[in-house]
Amino acid sequence: MNNRPIAVFDSGLGGLSVLRELIRVLPEENFLYFGDSANAPYGGKPTEEIRAMTLRHAEDLFARGCKALVVACNTATSAAINDLRAQYPNKIIIGIEPALKLAVTHYPAGRILVMATEATLRERKFAALMERFAQQCDIVKCPCPGLVEFVERGELQGSAVEAALREELKDCLTETPDAVVLGCTHYPFLRGAIRAVVGETPEILDGADGTAKETKRRLLEAGLLRAGSPGKVELTNSLPTPEIMRLCERLLSAE
Ligand code: DGL
Repeated sequence: MNNRPIAVFDSGLGGLSVLRELIRVLPEENFLYFGDSANAPYGGKPTEEIRAMTLRHAEDLFARGCKALVVACNTATSAAINDLRAQYPNKIIIGIEPALKLAVTHYPAGRILVMATEATLRERKFAALMERFAQQCDIVKCPCPGLVEFVERGELQGSAVEAALREELKDCLTETPDAVVLGCTHYPFLRGAIRAVVGETPEILDGADGTAKETKRRLLEAGLLRAGSPGKVELTNSLPTPEIMRLCERLLSAE
């Protein structure tokens, strides 16, 4: 029973930044990763479409016997987490969200930039999160269309990605922020380029560690933790070309 894998889902390769934290926090678990690279990016699509794709993939993953689902995609969480929980009330479902609360804890009256997809930033879920902290902090939304594609093709550094970042962040960087929240699971793979553009001062935060710890807490509570030998990791993708599968391995082992 406890040997059943934990499903980890993303629109593409970004969720691997969450999977690597999950493996660190839960080394004895089996994981089944599914990336929907054939349909990535999700972030510029209408909410209904993102919701439908997420529900369909969740159904497949549960049909494969997964004991829990980690939605390792902020965009899919914003569009579909409520529907997923309504559809599978007895399943453990964890959805990653931009780590705004963590940033506010570190900088209670600070200036906080949230980089995320257009879909994540326009959804009600993010508005509700922002409302909780907007009184005390200066929260700046930075939609970053185009960044996900760099990760999907394995271009993690260099002048093109830095130029794209400079362009997307130009209105947000008029003042130096205290923290930059990476509210899309693809962006941690661009951390070096993001650091080059935002400078040395701001702390760069993401929600992978919090999501992994929450997954552990939920499995423990349900008596579903696996113990004993190291777990296995299966990587799957809707675009399973040799290039994509090699890139999955490379990203999973990236620092
Ligand atoms: N990795 C996803 C996220 O965390 C979305 C990327 C996309 O498909 O636009 O938001």
